[in-house]
Amino acid sequence: MYTVMIPAAGSGQRMGAGHNKLFLMLGDKPIFIHTLDVFERDQACAGIILAVKPEERQEIASMLDRYHITKVKEMVDGGSERQHSVAACLEAHNKNGVVLVHDAARPFVRHSVIANLVESATRFGAAIAGVPAKDTMKLASSGIVEKTVERDSLWIVQTPQAFRYDVLKEAAHQAQVEDFLGTDEAMLVERLGYPVHIVESTYDNVKMTTPEDLAFGEVLLGKRQREER
Ligand code: C5P
Repeated sequence: MYTVMIPAAGSGQRMGAGHNKLFLMLGDKPIFIHTLDVFERDQACAGIILAVKPEERQEIASMLDRYHITKVKEMVDGGSERQHSVAACLEAHNKNGVVLVHDAARPFVRHSVIANLVESATRFGAAIAGVPAKDTMKLASSGIVEKTVERDSLWIVQTPQAFRYDVLKEAAHQAQVEDFLGTDEAMLVERLGYPVHIVESTYDNVKMTTPEDLAFGEVLLGKRQREER
C-alpha cells in the first residue's frame, strides 16, 4: 500500500486558460479528476493528499464530490513553487511506508508503472518514472553546440516518483534548511547521496502543459477508452 501526494496548486500559465489548467475538460472530466481517478481505482492506493490553492479549495471539493473521488484524505494549502506544495503534503503525513508524488497534470500514468515504482521504492528507497530519450541530444551554449551527448545514458523523467517516507522527508527537510529548490523530488534525494532507480514508463504519460498537449490528450483518452472496452 502507498499514499500519493498530488500537487494541484499551480497556475498553468503556459496553457493560457486564464484559470487553473487542471480544471480544463479532457473528454468528460476535468484533467485533474482523470489523474485522481487512476488512484481512486488502484487497490494499492491507501489515500490521496492534495495540495490546492486556498481560493480553489471549495471548487475542488465540490468537483471531488461530483466525480465520486473518495480517497482524498487531506487537502493542504499549496505553496508558491511546486516543491513547496509537495512539502505541505509531506507535513500532513507521518506514516512509514511508500509515498508517491505525482503531478495532477499527468492523467495517463499506467497502473503497471505505479506498481513497479512502489516495488522498487520499497526495496531501494527511491524510484522514478522515466522513458529513454528518443531524439539525438546536444549540449549547447548561447545557441552553439558544444557536444553531442551520449543518448543511451539519457532519460526523460516524469512523475510518479516514489520514495520510502523517511527518505523523502529527510530530503525535503534538508532542502528547506538549505533553501535549495530542485526541479523534481528525486533531485532533493540525489543530493543526499541516495541511489534513485529509474522505472521505465510509457511515452504517453505526458504532462498537460500547453494547448497542444490537451489536443494530444484527447487523442490518448479515446485510445485508452477503446483499449478498456
Ligand atoms: O506547472 P507544471 O505543470 O510543471 O506543474 C506540475 C504540477 O505541480 C501541477 O499539477 C501543478 O498544479 C502543481 N503545482 C503546485 N504548486 C505550484 C506549482 C505547480 O502544486 N506552486
